[in-house]
Amino acid sequence: MRPTPWSSIRFRVLPCRYETVISRLLGSWVVAKASAPGKLILFGEHFVVYGLPAIATAIEARTVAEVKRAGKFSLQDNRPETPGYRNEKRDQQSDSIQRILRVMRLEGEKASIELGGNLIAASGVGASGASCAAIAAALNEEFTLGKGIDEINDVAYEGEKGYHGVPSGIDNCCSSYGGFILFRKDLKTGKGIVRQLHSKAVLSIIIGNTGITSNTTKVVEDVKREKQRDPDRFRKMLDDYSMIVEEAETALAKGELKKIGLLMNRNHLLLEEMDVSCPELEELVDIASRSGALGAKLTGTGRGGLMIALVTDETKGRVASAIEKAGFRSEITRIGAEGVRVER
Ligand code: MEV
Repeated sequence: MRPTPWSSIRFRVLPCRYETVISRLLGSWVVAKASAPGKLILFGEHFVVYGLPAIATAIEARTVAEVKRAGKFSLQDNRPETPGYRNEKRDQQSDSIQRILRVMRLEGEKASIELGGNLIAASGVGASGASCAAIAAALNEEFTLGKGIDEINDVAYEGEKGYHGVPSGIDNCCSSYGGFILFRKDLKTGKGIVRQLHSKAVLSIIIGNTGITSNTTKVVEDVKREKQRDPDRFRKMLDDYSMIVEEAETALAKGELKKIGLLMNRNHLLLEEMDVSCPELEELVDIASRSGALGAKLTGTGRGGLMIALVTDETKGRVASAIEKAGFRSEITRIGAEGVRVER
């Protein structure tokens, strides 16, 4: 299948349900519920902040948000987590929800929000983007605001600012639109441009979790400082990455798995050079490569969070058990999952 041109992509509009109105009349026991998937960045974390394209995909695990009008505001976060994640992100989460309520003009409203689902809240998997998109869509339902998918994505982006300062927007786009995307941030307008990609190959990805929660705002700031300190070196890294992502797009379209793996390795080396890796991520990449993965790299912010490895049916068991044997958690995931949706 040929990739969709940048301008021709269309997303469905979330319906303003007549059931919602009826349920409001029926009583307060009816809960508005929406879910959104986590994401993995296959190519281009950090480079995307500087206007270069990145390739990312929505994964099958989802965060579910349930929203109900109530006498007072409350938040219950029942998401499974990497130990300590929710605690570490508590202040950012509160800032994020305030932003979401403000931009949806629901500041004065009182509601209870409950988060759950099977997406493990961890660095690297787009946990904040998924929760922002799910909360926005559930609020949209509960307060019958009639917002479409692009507006939900805009709200989720606003929520992401509570966690990441000035995020590129790749995470919320993945959680909102789903699928397999090429994302680029237009640095002049600040807008994210999304194009759906299609791969001839089925990608099998194993995730290795360092168990470390990273701080995206801080790591992005450190990278910026490095750019200012040595602009020539940074320019060279951007140029090298540009070639990688261009080749990766072609390799994905053609389904060239070995090539994709090699490009992931090259992308990881650049991220290491950028100083966003850490000993645990290096160990995971090393384990995956030695046990037969076609390629491996850190994904997301880095300095903790997750490693992803491209595997085949023959190597996936070996790679997963080598990761577990070394004391890390591993998970195999399906990619290209559906974006945010209302749950009935
Ligand atoms: C975080 O998932 C990805 C980063 O590139 C930050 C961003 O894009 O905003 C590190």
